[in-house]
Amino acid sequence: MSCSKTKVMHYLLICGLCTTASFMLDAKTTEDAQTPATVASEQVSMQNQLDMQANNKVKAFATELKQALVGAIQQGGFENAVEVCHSKAPEIASNLSRDGWTVARTSHRARNENNVPDAWELDRMQTFSEQYKAGTPANQLTFSKIEDEQYRFMKAIPTDKVCLGCHGSSVNPDLATKINALYPQDAAVGFSIEDLRGAFTLTKSLEDK
Ligand code: HEC
Repeated sequence: MSCSKTKVMHYLLICGLCTTASFMLDAKTTEDAQTPATVASEQVSMQNQLDMQANNKVKAFATELKQALVGAIQQGGFENAVEVCHSKAPEIASNLSRDGWTVARTSHRARNENNVPDAWELDRMQTFSEQYKAGTPANQLTFSKIEDEQYRFMKAIPTDKVCLGCHGSSVNPDLATKINALYPQDAAVGFSIEDLRGAFTLTKSLEDK
């Protein structure tokens, strides 16, 4: 410790601010160094910002899709709405996938094979399902991480009553035929309102940062 620093410390000890002030002095001497603590706190604040952006994208996706779905059901029933889901859901997702982001939906039992989860998503879906069964509300089931220059975020999607028309255990046979024609690998039936239907899944590449 340098002489002047010792002197300052001495005065600070007298006025009883030792803990805070000595921390500040220590911080000053390491101002330019990337200590593990500063790196960790920068990462936390970056993650918080990304969480906010991810939540906004999820909100935009959910709002637009719900409007399209409800409108289509009102206009021409579930059979009409299947077409809308089929074309609109991937379109909305791809419009939101800008600036390094990939925005999508996934499910442990997926209808569209493009939505089949990877190992991390499947694992997280299982954890969400356990937490949901244990009583955590679906809107609190979110998770994010930064790993290998990549940010990943997931948010659970519950099953509402209206979803059962196309994802429940007694889908109208004509409707089922239509769904199977579009999705021969469909695994997204047999859900009940106690189940999570799936999750939004977002990725952002951080390689340029
Ligand atoms: C009119 C029929 C219909 C209704 C009602 C419906 N869906 Fe779907 N759902 C579909 C179709 C079709 C797809 C495949 C979309 C695609 O190709 O990306 C799908 C896909 C999904 C997916 C993406 C994962 C997967 O299985 O491919 C989720 C999540 C989902 N639906 C949730 C819901 C929820 C939640 C509701 C109720 C609010 C709902 N759906 C109501 C037809 C429907």
